[in-house]
Amino acid sequence: MEDFDIMSKALIVYASRAGETRKIGELIAEGLRFSAIEVQVTSAKDIKKMDDLAGFDAYIFGSATYHGEMMESMKTLLFLAEKAGLEKKTGGAFGAFGWSGEAPDRIYETMKNIFQMDMAGVPLRLKSSSLGGGFKMAQDYGREIAKKMEK
Ligand SMILES: Cc1cc2nc3c(=O)[nH]c(=O)nc-3n(C[C@H](O)[C@H](O)[C@H](O)COP(=O)(O)O)c2cc1C
Repeated sequence: MEDFDIMSKALIVYASRAGETRKIGELIAEGLRFSAIEVQVTSAKDIKKMDDLAGFDAYIFGSATYHGEMMESMKTLLFLAEKAGLEKKTGGAFGAFGWSGEAPDRIYETMKNIFQMDMAGVPLRLKSSSLGGGFKMAQDYGREIAKKMEK
């Protein structure tokens, strides 16, 4: 495709133990792809150096909540991303949770306050990607982020 290299690109990074948060990340990716954004979905464990974060227009980070916290691999990623020059880039945060769901809010606030990113309206917190319309909510979150990337 001729315009391939001018397509906007988004990076979705997830920290997930049982796979729910990964699934939500993949659904957000679908929503972005519906809007013609090129998307890479990666586990936080596979982002090892700052270079792995370079070259995207939007960054969407997600973690499951365990013991009231985001997972360790997402904490490590956020320390790495601190120096990645993400100011003004489009951002989003998400995560699967059981009852308290702190992780998506913590990630969102870090991206907003420390990285100074242009964040989507709210973090996406889902009890399950398949319950209560979660499937569609995650795809819609991707579309919402794509719309932010247009302007
Ligand atoms: C040991 C353990 C601790 C958990 N702690 C929390 C918690 O503090 N708050 C919460 O909202 N959910 C908690 N959960 C629920 C998980 O967040 C939920 O199962 C989520 O869907 C897991 O996402 P994942 O499949 O991406 O790992 C906990 C689950 C387990 C097994």
